[in-house]
Amino acid sequence: MYTLIQRFLFLFPAEFSHHFGLKGLKVLNWLGLASFLAPEEKGEVTEVFGLQFKNSVGLAAGLDKNADYIDALGALGFGFLEVGTVTPKAQSGNAKPRLFRLTKDHALINRMGFNNKGVEHMIQRLKNRRYQGIIGVNIGKNFSTPLEQAYEDYLFCLRELYAYADYIVVNLSSPNTPGLRALQFGEELNKLLNILKNEQHVLSLKHERHVPLLLKIAPDLNAKECQDIAQALLENNMDGVVATNTTISRQGLNETVLVNEAGGLSGEPLAAQSESIVKILRNHLHGTIPIIGVGGITDQASAQAKLKAGASLLQIYTGFIYKGPKLIGEALKAKQET
Ligand SMILES: Cc1cc2nc3c(=O)[nH]c(=O)nc-3n(C[C@H](O)[C@H](O)[C@H](O)COP(=O)(O)O)c2cc1C
Repeated sequence: MYTLIQRFLFLFPAEFSHHFGLKGLKVLNWLGLASFLAPEEKGEVTEVFGLQFKNSVGLAAGLDKNADYIDALGALGFGFLEVGTVTPKAQSGNAKPRLFRLTKDHALINRMGFNNKGVEHMIQRLKNRRYQGIIGVNIGKNFSTPLEQAYEDYLFCLRELYAYADYIVVNLSSPNTPGLRALQFGEELNKLLNILKNEQHVLSLKHERHVPLLLKIAPDLNAKECQDIAQALLENNMDGVVATNTTISRQGLNETVLVNEAGGLSGEPLAAQSESIVKILRNHLHGTIPIIGVGGITDQASAQAKLKAGASLLQIYTGFIYKGPKLIGEALKAKQET
């Protein structure tokens, strides 16, 4: 069924298909039909960061940036959904076209640039949701906010969204916001994590609820950089890490023309790179901080590889665009067999 839908959607430019597909899914859900697309495999309840996940395969950030489609996406069999990246104020992102399909590589390149409707809109959507599962909210900084003040944007998002999220992800790894990835290193990182963890403590007392705080990192890190990040996660007592975002690398691609488009590459070619980041994290964290593995999961084998590398939970995006909800079932089978 999804194969037919996918063939139709792939007739149009990628970003148009994205919105059209999500609107169509919303209609299907109103008609009570979206759950027919869900795989038979339901998976098992998993407890991570003190939260009960319906199953261990979630939707990665960026597909539902404004939490506009939670109920419809929630009907497809995901164990959890991560919405965002949301920034304090609405912003339009980069000029179009900014999303490209590399079909020969089962990959995408995007330079969306955190296009989103802002925190206030997201709060309304989260308040009105019917979906009962776990929702993570991925937060970022506005394009216009200078890097030295980035922490103010993250603090604002954390404070405003705390009451409505099950977990919150600090996204420092988008390649499409100039300078953002520099915050992943050294004192900058320690300072930011420290500020946010202190605020999380204050908010947990105020709301009488601990909302886990995670960091999302890039795949374009050498071993030393990755170990340093792991050390910062330990020192700041972070609750989890999401590995990884898209890559700026263009290695091993079959596509020849679109590879020159600027932005982050996701999908099949990213799998090995993000898997090696998960392994380095696992070796350094020794199971003390759970890892959400994301990047290039396209079938049961690639899902299994991420779990073996050390991921406790998985997320999918590009593989889901190419294969649909069937991929959730394949990843859940991988979990059963690990
Ligand atoms: C079009 C597109 C938009 C994305 N937007 C975001 C985003 O806003 N925030 C974020 O943390 N990750 C974003 N991502 C990255 C994904 O969440 C994921 O980390 C990455 O695509 C690797 O997973 P995949 O290979 O399964 O796609 C985006 C990815 C794509 C393809």
